Amino acid sequence: MIWVVGNGGMLGQELCRLFDTEKIDYSGTDRELSILETEVLKKHAEKYNPEWIINCSAYTAVDKAEDDRDSAFKINRDGVENLAKIAAVRDIPIIHISTDYVFDGTSAVALKEDAPTGPIGVYGQSKLAGEEVLRDQCLNHFIIRTAWLYGQYGPNFVYTMLKLMNERDSIKVVSDQVGSPTWTGDLSQLILRIISDKSNKYGTYHFSGEGQCSWYDFACEIYRLGRQKGMVESECDIAPCTSAEFQTRAKRPAFSLLSKEKVKSEIHFIPPEWRASLRRFIEEITERDII
Ligand SMILES: NC(=O)c1ccc[n+]([C@@H]2O[C@H](COP(=O)([O-])OP(=O)(O)OC[C@H]3O[C@@H](n4cnc5c(N)ncnc54)[C@H](OP(=O)(O)O)[C@@H]3O)[C@@H](O)[C@H]2O)c1
Repeated sequence: MIWVVGNGGMLGQELCRLFDTEKIDYSGTDRELSILETEVLKKHAEKYNPEWIINCSAYTAVDKAEDDRDSAFKINRDGVENLAKIAAVRDIPIIHISTDYVFDGTSAVALKEDAPTGPIGVYGQSKLAGEEVLRDQCLNHFIIRTAWLYGQYGPNFVYTMLKLMNERDSIKVVSDQVGSPTWTGDLSQLILRIISDKSNKYGTYHFSGEGQCSWYDFACEIYRLGRQKGMVESECDIAPCTSAEFQTRAKRPAFSLLSKEKVKSEIHFIPPEWRASLRRFIEEITERDII
């Protein structure tokens, strides 16, 4: 039995859908069984006796975190510590999801797992603290850092763009932040692979779609595919802009392209090219899915 923590989130829901399809036995929990409640968590683990814990829960409001440091650290650090301790005591592996926001964005080359970290915002700092406590408390861990996540079951950049492209004649999108998008469908397949292989190649891994782009490039591809499918009903001009022109509460790393060499060589999982995954995602969704 697999314990999916955070089964109500964008990744958690996608993962549970995959487990349903694959007929994998799991127990999913979210807010109703808070990762901050140690005793309740322990009881759940005793009752279900999971073989793996997968933590998809997190505090993910990047801008809000700047003014809500306590909550971000509680969930992204303390909550992870609670799960790590349960995994360690029960001697079961834990898969935890982290982020490209642990980096400062100044690298000029694709970031390897051992590249120096240096988060520039509270969210990234809290996620890095979660990684550190997990490494400290539970040897049998997989930390998967991912980036620019989108999928069917949560608000995300693709949905935002499709909505805006239908509402406006023109939009501006930042072109000076470079990385690579990740479809929750692909990340779920990676998690499934780790579990199915009963992998013990513990450690930190980077995972996102193959290739690289800016948010502007990503938006242009969403527009092209959206028009092709008829999900964007009228023409919309997409123009590049700078991060300085599009101010947000939290700073974002300018460059956060993740190197996938380790996941390929150790887990033997090949990340699909980001454009191919975006095409599959847009083929799969309908107007009604857009949040
Ligand atoms: N989204 C991205 O672009 C992105 C990029 C890189 C990495 N990641 C990482 O990928 C993982 C999955 O992200 P996601 O976008 O799927 O996140 P999400 O949609 O925000 O889902 C997180 C889930 O955790 C729940 N949660 C929050 N506090 C909790 C608590 N105390 N106890 C139990 N559950 C709690 C949330 O409930 P509420 O909704 O009620 O808060 C939500 O259902 C996270 O670790 C995130 O940091 C995300």
